[in-house]
Amino acid sequence: MMMWWFITTLAITAFFYNSPVYAYDNNPLQDICVAVSDSHASVFVNGKICKDPKLATPNDFYFSGLNVSGNAAPKSGVAVKLVDVNSMPGLNTLGISVSRLDFEPLSLFPLHAHPRASALITILEGSIYVGLFVPDPANFFKSRLFSKILNPGDVFVFPKGLIHFLYNIGNKKATSLIYYNSQNPGVISIPNSIFASKPPVPDDVLAKGFQLNKIQIAQLRKKFS
Ligand SMILES: *[C@@H]1O[C@H](CO)[C@@H](O)[C@H](O)[C@H]1NC(C)=O
Repeated sequence: MMMWWFITTLAITAFFYNSPVYAYDNNPLQDICVAVSDSHASVFVNGKICKDPKLATPNDFYFSGLNVSGNAAPKSGVAVKLVDVNSMPGLNTLGISVSRLDFEPLSLFPLHAHPRASALITILEGSIYVGLFVPDPANFFKSRLFSKILNPGDVFVFPKGLIHFLYNIGNKKATSLIYYNSQNPGVISIPNSIFASKPPVPDDVLAKGFQLNKIQIAQLRKKFS
C-alpha cells in the first residue's frame, strides 16, 4: 500500500516537472549551449537549440550597453533594458539574466509578476519604494504587503511568481539593476492582462470579480486598451 502511494506520488511529481506548463530553467547538461540565432528554432519549453560548441564565439557571451538607459515606455516613464537569452545567446540553459530599469521621477512600474524567476534588485541611484504581496497561508483571501524604501546599495528580492511593484518616490531619476534566475523570466502585467486581454473577459466576470459595476469596468478597459 505504502509502495503504491510512493510510486503514484513519484509519477505525479515527474509529470508536473516534465510538463511544459510548469517549465523552469533546467540545470545545464553541458558546459555551453549557445542559442542558435534562428528565431524559429525555439523549443516551447523556455529554451533554444544549441549551436555547435566549436562555432561559439566570445560575442555569444557578451552584451554591451547596460551603461545607458533604455527608452522609457510612453505612459509609464519606466525604461527597461533586458539582457536575456534573446539578446545574449550564451545565456541559453544557464538560468540567469539581468535588466536595467530607469525610472523618471514619480514613475511607477505597475503590479506585475515574473512567472519563471525570482528577481534580485539593487539600486544604483535614486530612491525606489518597492512592494511585494505575500500570500497569507492562514487566509486565502488576504495577503501581506512587504514594502521598503530602497536607496543606493540596497538589495531586495521578489520571489518567483509573486506580485510586486516599484515606484520612484524621489524627485530625481532612479536607476537599478535586476538579476533573474531564468534566461527568460517573463512578465505578467496584472492590470493589462486582466483589462486588456484579447478576446476580452466577459463584463460579468470582471464586475463580479472586482465588485464594480459595468460602467466602471468599461472605464478600466478603456484605460488599459
Ligand atoms: C557605453 O558603453 C559603450 C560600450 O563600451 C560605449 O561605446 C559608450 O560610449 C558608453 N556610453 C556612455 C554614455 O557611457
